[in-house]
Amino acid sequence: MKIHKDYNLSGLNTFGLAAKAKFFAEVNNEEELRKLFVDPLFTENTRLFLGKGSNILFTKDFDGIVILNKIQGIEVLRENTKTVLVKSMSGVIWHDLVVFTTKRGYWGIENLSLIPGTVGAAPMQNIGAYGAELRNVLESVETFDVKTGEKRIFNKEECEFGYRDSIFKNKLKNRYFISAVVLKLSKFEKKNLTYKILADYLNKNKVEVKNSSDISKAVAEIRCSKLPDPKLIGNAGSFFKNVFVGENKFNELMKIFPDMPHFEEDNMIKVPAGWLIEQCGWKGKRVGNVGVHERQALVLVNYGEATGREIIELANKIIASVKEKFGLELTPEVNIV
Ligand code: EPU
Repeated sequence: MKIHKDYNLSGLNTFGLAAKAKFFAEVNNEEELRKLFVDPLFTENTRLFLGKGSNILFTKDFDGIVILNKIQGIEVLRENTKTVLVKSMSGVIWHDLVVFTTKRGYWGIENLSLIPGTVGAAPMQNIGAYGAELRNVLESVETFDVKTGEKRIFNKEECEFGYRDSIFKNKLKNRYFISAVVLKLSKFEKKNLTYKILADYLNKNKVEVKNSSDISKAVAEIRCSKLPDPKLIGNAGSFFKNVFVGENKFNELMKIFPDMPHFEEDNMIKVPAGWLIEQCGWKGKRVGNVGVHERQALVLVNYGEATGREIIELANKIIASVKEKFGLELTPEVNIV
């Protein structure tokens, strides 16, 4: 395994931002990982593990070591008549895992089709879309303690999942390297059509759902119609999290904005940040090299030459205007480095 110096990261983040890593290494298997853990360039520097770079915003060069996770492999661990345990190594592209499972007729992650990023990043932020969340199917997360090199397996409860949140993003940030994820999927039809946009799409297009691939295909079509392709225009998906509001604040807002969309989740009311941003007039707006996507206001885009600072400046302006109009605080979903 080679450790590079002053490595260019612009091709390794979907915002396409120019940034350099002081040191850079690529790991392809657990053996390389173990070697890395005892290398002084690893132990003596700040570390950043990178998957597909689809949820990260570089605001400056990284003064430490960036480790690109390329650990591959998907296998069926165990199965019975009803369920199957699928283990995927963390460097696998998330959608490749979706394809692996839907092709075999398994149900559970088809609603999470085309989410950019790697399998290792999925538990970090408990990825979710179209009414499904990773935590609904997660069995365990395999990790290495980066300090001791020891293996540790987290069961679902230990991951402390929340909306776009987990223990790996909080208490244990940077402490564990996620090496593999085990999912428990269903061999029987288990359609999740709770998300209205998905159900409406299937009705409108008269899609008869026979298997999980049919759902996967529909989700992919919806996503592609709304979300910009990072290969064509730099972005990191949703830049902000949706906002949870308490009952009093919700009632207060509904009096002024009776059309405000909202969803009940975990006994709280979730308001789409995309709607809030759109109401403040930001949708489709461009400010120099950066902008707010024209079809999904939750997505900030880099028109080519933007710096991370420019994106942060735009994000701060959006936060301020949403605060002023609605009294609600938007928080970024992307990791700012
Ligand atoms: N909306 C607007 N204007 C917009 C965008 C959204 O009014 O510009 C309103 C609409 O009322 C719409 C509602 O927001 O009905 C929900 O929109 P959408 O289905 O596009 O979902 P979202 O809540 O904006 C979340 C996730 C997405 C995920 C979709 C679909 C977060 C932060 N984002 O967005 O995840 O694909 O649901 O399930 O929770 C990502 O994390 O990168 C991501 C794209």
